[in-house]
Amino acid sequence: MPAYNSELSQIPMSNYSIHKNLSGAELTIDLNAVEANYSILCSKAQKARVAAVVKADAYGTGMSQVARVLSLAGCKTFFVAHISEGVKLRNLLPDAEIHILNGLLIGTEEAYTVNNLIPVLGSIDEIDRWITFSNKATHLCDLHIDTGMLRLGLPPYEFKILLRDSARLSRLKLNLVISHLASADIQNSPQNIKQLEAFRTVRQLFPEGSSSLANSAGIFLGPEFFGDVVRPGIALYGCNPTPWLSNPMHSVINLKAKIIQCRNASPGETVSYGATYPITKPTTVATVSVGYADGYLRSLSNKGLTNINGIQIPIIGRVTMDTIMVDVSDLPESRRKPGDWVELIGDTISVDALADAAGTIPHEILTNLGNRYHREYLND
Ligand SMILES: Cc1ncc(COP(=O)(O)O)c(C=O)c1O
Repeated sequence: MPAYNSELSQIPMSNYSIHKNLSGAELTIDLNAVEANYSILCSKAQKARVAAVVKADAYGTGMSQVARVLSLAGCKTFFVAHISEGVKLRNLLPDAEIHILNGLLIGTEEAYTVNNLIPVLGSIDEIDRWITFSNKATHLCDLHIDTGMLRLGLPPYEFKILLRDSARLSRLKLNLVISHLASADIQNSPQNIKQLEAFRTVRQLFPEGSSSLANSAGIFLGPEFFGDVVRPGIALYGCNPTPWLSNPMHSVINLKAKIIQCRNASPGETVSYGATYPITKPTTVATVSVGYADGYLRSLSNKGLTNINGIQIPIIGRVTMDTIMVDVSDLPESRRKPGDWVELIGDTISVDALADAAGTIPHEILTNLGNRYHREYLND
């Protein structure tokens, strides 16, 4: 196969997917698995409506492709963080209900109505700006109540102000009342019950609109957490919503990179920046075409595992911008040639396991997936 030829130079490269022959690594996203995961979550959520959180480009997997598949699977409600993401999604799905979690940035009011987007209002200030703008309560909005995360949403003292002011309330055309769980993915966290009780109190005082509390992990805490609408993100993308149990979701992504070159190293030498990995025995070092600029986190230095043909291959030395080095001494020469594939995420290394090794959460691994990969979508 030619490394580069005139035919290849004609191939348009989106800023998203590099042509297969020009890329050092390949990311495969299985849209069948996304659809199957949606279906699992629908069964689990019983009568609650299952929305899809597709912010941050569907957690790095590609919002256009993922939202289309979910919409065909029957999903009608979507959440993104930014209004810019909502505008993009509106162009893809003209009929979907689209909620903007980060609320009402100053100056964006008109963009909400023009694009038929629903702001998740999280403070009295946002509520007042929305009322002023949408004068006759003709446009839908959501209310976010903070039940203990101290991030977004009305804190209790603002909620009390709102409750006392029926004139203000009558000028809101409410769709959802939401809150967000801070510790749903931590086994037996007492914060879950505390937040549930706080949310129940809110709903008793304020039963307007539909309710929405559970993220992916919240769906697995039991029916009392469901409310009317659940908002899973990470479980749709195949990661484990119950980290203390085996993963009920189907794996969605596979990431593999090519070996660039191999070298023999001897005791006394060291690998990569900072010389953090000393060679102590004769070792074959392969340099692989992925680095932190591709979202392969630097914290995986000397920690991450890769896999070649079923054999676990450790990362040695620091992850660099464009490459990692792995110890391939256990492999025969025929299985570690330039151009051979090294699995980074897939059947042998889950996103959850990689996140664990990197000291982070799967959300961060996925949303860092870079744009220098060749991307393949299964069932696009
Ligand atoms: C308000 C809100 N709801 C739902 C989600 C989805 O959470 P998860 O990806 O853990 O399912 C998020 C994710 O950050 C969120 O911020």
